[in-house]
Amino acid sequence: MRTFPAGFVWGAATAAYQIEGAAKEDGRGQSIWDTFSATPGKVAGGDTGETATDHYHRYREDVALMRSLGLGAYRFSVAWPRVQPDGGGAVNPLGLGFYDRLVDELLAGDITPYVTLYHWDLPQALEDRGGWANRDTAYRFAEYAQAVHDKLGDRVREWTTLNEPWVAAFLGYGNGVHAPGRTEPADALRAAHHLLLAHGLGTKVLREAGAERIMLVINSAPVFTPAQVHDPAAPVSEADAEAVARIDALLTRQFLDPALRGRYPEELVAAHAPHVRDGDLELINQPIDLVGINYYNPTVVEAAPGTPADPAWPGSQGVRFCPVDGPATAMGWPIVPSGLSRLLVRLGRDYPEVGLMVTENGAAFDDTVEDGRVHDADRLDYLRTHLRAVHDAIGEGADVRGYLVWSLLDNFEWAEGYRKRFGIVHVDYGTLTRTPKDSALWYRDAVSANAV
Ligand code: FCB
Repeated sequence: MRTFPAGFVWGAATAAYQIEGAAKEDGRGQSIWDTFSATPGKVAGGDTGETATDHYHRYREDVALMRSLGLGAYRFSVAWPRVQPDGGGAVNPLGLGFYDRLVDELLAGDITPYVTLYHWDLPQALEDRGGWANRDTAYRFAEYAQAVHDKLGDRVREWTTLNEPWVAAFLGYGNGVHAPGRTEPADALRAAHHLLLAHGLGTKVLREAGAERIMLVINSAPVFTPAQVHDPAAPVSEADAEAVARIDALLTRQFLDPALRGRYPEELVAAHAPHVRDGDLELINQPIDLVGINYYNPTVVEAAPGTPADPAWPGSQGVRFCPVDGPATAMGWPIVPSGLSRLLVRLGRDYPEVGLMVTENGAAFDDTVEDGRVHDADRLDYLRTHLRAVHDAIGEGADVRGYLVWSLLDNFEWAEGYRKRFGIVHVDYGTLTRTPKDSALWYRDAVSANAV
């Protein structure tokens, strides 16, 4: 048994568009994901978030599920288009009312709410005015943050500004795989900067309003050469080291260096110069308490002269993204638990001024329900080995405060629709019945023992 430090936070994560449904209820406005998923060919199976898991109506049952698993924390996101249907101005009290009830329900069950303000569901009205490529969106975000804090700030202590700005910018505006589906690499970089600006402005607003802890959540991963995946000491050529550094700059330092140090990494200063205004980096560099890490697999690259830039990775010409040998999840993502410990140790060393939290980690597998049970041994093993990796990282000095499994429920997995199941609780999309999988029951025992 490996026991975690006292006070280690155990929980689960979700996001509004992936679970809520009720897309047209109580005055909710349209989001870019409504538009995108209604566009033929964008989402597998033509799936949309219109009903999702119907969490909007079943949140009491879902909170009861969390209680039955003994979870201490629940990370969810607020849907901006519920709060400001037109992306700005008037606040919709019915939309905020949902989160008000959810927070009360969580607190009554001794579950700490971790509120994420932006998990990708931009109001369509803002996208119509340029979306994240428009600087003004950052200022609208700060107003929205204020409105949510006004309503929930008396009870919510844990605030996250953004989830995975890399994905929002580079899949949304770079390769177009996510909403709004634009393919303009220069706008993707602009979007990344404006997301960071939104983070800074939002953090300022939250801090002034008295928020206790503020976090920025990024999708981070260690960047390895193929040989380094299984052998950290493998020799690396100069050309490969340069490729690794360039991709690491885009994925991780592009966000943490401005947020924590007030500067872009050297590799990206020129790329951002056209849209950075005087004072922006100071605004972005607001003190925060935690960095949340969403980890699924390492990123593996090597130098390959002549390779064109990948549209999700502006400036990546000459870099090849490599497959990894060995087991993979249903997403095709390689399973490399040691990547998580190596990542956490490195971030702890490079950014000692903040605490770390694993805000997402988990796996999709093809589950089947048999006699009311889901024997998801692969997922259980994924969670166990990654939690061991977190424990290893803590042993090596990383200040990791908690672990939130992705996800509580099977849900709308963005461009993959409903066919990829990440939940520790199975959802039957016909009946909306919830069935805890074996991994959920195992997780319940780990939570209660504070050990794996
Ligand atoms: C992350 C997202 C989350 C979920 C997982 C699988 O990038 O933050 O919403 O889709 O991937």
